[in-house]
Amino acid sequence: MPLVAGVDTSTQSCKIVVRDAETGALVRTGSAKHPDGTEVDPQHWWDAFKEAAAAAGGLADVAALSVGGQQHGMVVLDADGNVIRPALLWNDNRSAPSAEALISELGDGSREAGAQAWADAVGSVLVASLTVTKLRWLRDNEPENAAKVAAVALPHDWLSWRIAGYGPAGDPTAPLGPQLDKLFTDRSDASGTGYYDASAGQYRPDLLERALGRTDVVLPRVVGVAEAGAVAHPAVAGGATATSLGSNGCLVGPGAGDNAGASLGLGMTSGDIAISIGTSGVVSAVAPKRTADGSGAINGFADATGNALMLAVTLNAARVLDAAREVLDVDFDGLAELALQAPPGSDGLVLVPYLEGERTPNRPSATGTLHGIRLATSTRAHLARAYIEGMLCGLADGLDALRAQGVSVDRVMLIGGAAQSPAVQQIAPQVFGLPIGIPEPGEYVADGAARQAAWVLAAAADPDAAAPAWSTTIATTLAADPRPVIREQYAAVRDLA
Ligand code: XUL
Repeated sequence: MPLVAGVDTSTQSCKIVVRDAETGALVRTGSAKHPDGTEVDPQHWWDAFKEAAAAAGGLADVAALSVGGQQHGMVVLDADGNVIRPALLWNDNRSAPSAEALISELGDGSREAGAQAWADAVGSVLVASLTVTKLRWLRDNEPENAAKVAAVALPHDWLSWRIAGYGPAGDPTAPLGPQLDKLFTDRSDASGTGYYDASAGQYRPDLLERALGRTDVVLPRVVGVAEAGAVAHPAVAGGATATSLGSNGCLVGPGAGDNAGASLGLGMTSGDIAISIGTSGVVSAVAPKRTADGSGAINGFADATGNALMLAVTLNAARVLDAAREVLDVDFDGLAELALQAPPGSDGLVLVPYLEGERTPNRPSATGTLHGIRLATSTRAHLARAYIEGMLCGLADGLDALRAQGVSVDRVMLIGGAAQSPAVQQIAPQVFGLPIGIPEPGEYVADGAARQAAWVLAAAADPDAAAPAWSTTIATTLAADPRPVIREQYAAVRDLA
């Protein structure tokens, strides 16, 4: 009964699941917090990984491990393997003007042509989230740091490299030192950089050069979907915490961007839609081939199995509900109770929830707005419901954008902590107008990483092995309950701000 581990190095925390490689049965879990903020020293991810591994009872008995992680974050390393500056994360908007500048530089000079050219080249119109825009920002704003860059990695690439024993010169926790050419990644996360074309399976050094002004930097090697990128170093994360890995030659899988990890964890195939309410809101679909949406609503990324992963991503999801809890001074259940006391459409009270700017639609400097406030709607219940409806309407717009790209919608699954809220469960079928399945609560990114690790293990013995057929249980199925008023009134005010 070999064991495998899946790691999710997410925006807010590091989560680890240990599973039976054959059956997928959950054996142990652990987690540890990451600091807040949109720029973070990657050392915190390394420390949290070690803490989470210890909380999971150590990883010494694990035969393979994969890391899924928050996409796009810019980790820049110097020639000695040191992190040059804190990583700029996917939700850091400072590079929005750099995105616009890069867009205007491709095509014939018009924004429309430039946007389409980027979508054709790398599957996505640039927004501040994508790594390439952060490199341009670095070149323009911190030229002394830009000059030191010897390698650019993503959060999951960097953590996998550390687990394999590499790291800054002289760091005792990095016994193999700063071998930058040992960095590796997978096609799903590479597809979110803005300088990798997943349909051709190639980096685009010309686009990297446009951003950073040069190409003499190491980019992580893109390994195959079930190929081990490294072997974990036996001394890594060792010592008193008993988290030492790899004494049995633990393989480190390619890893994945978190959305591709979740899609693998859920076992998604064409026709499945996942709506995830986490730090980001994500509506995703697996498709055989990516499209190139010049409007920018849909990112044409890669999944972790060789398909495309089409994504609409909002910056305002679970934290909109956190904000509502703060405003109303209630807990998770209290917010749901309040929201369900108001009618669908909240009697015309509409929240456009751009509390952190927005990415889809691309409005990095927008703020939220509350419309339709009257005496009759000035109740805590109306406000609670408006927060939830507004957040879900943003995601429903994302689903429409996926449909506009020809994606078929056969099955919709709602995941993320907020999917457990009774109010979200009642209001989502009203907003989406579709039946919705809620899988058992779980860590789907970490589960996808564990499933990939089991696949890597199987492929080491038989290169033709398929991904293990672990099943996902849909715990609750909600019937469609369309209430068009909710989206109609949202659409009427969304663009007024
Ligand atoms: C996807 C994206 C987010 C992050 C958050 O494009 O930016 O979903 O991956 O974890």
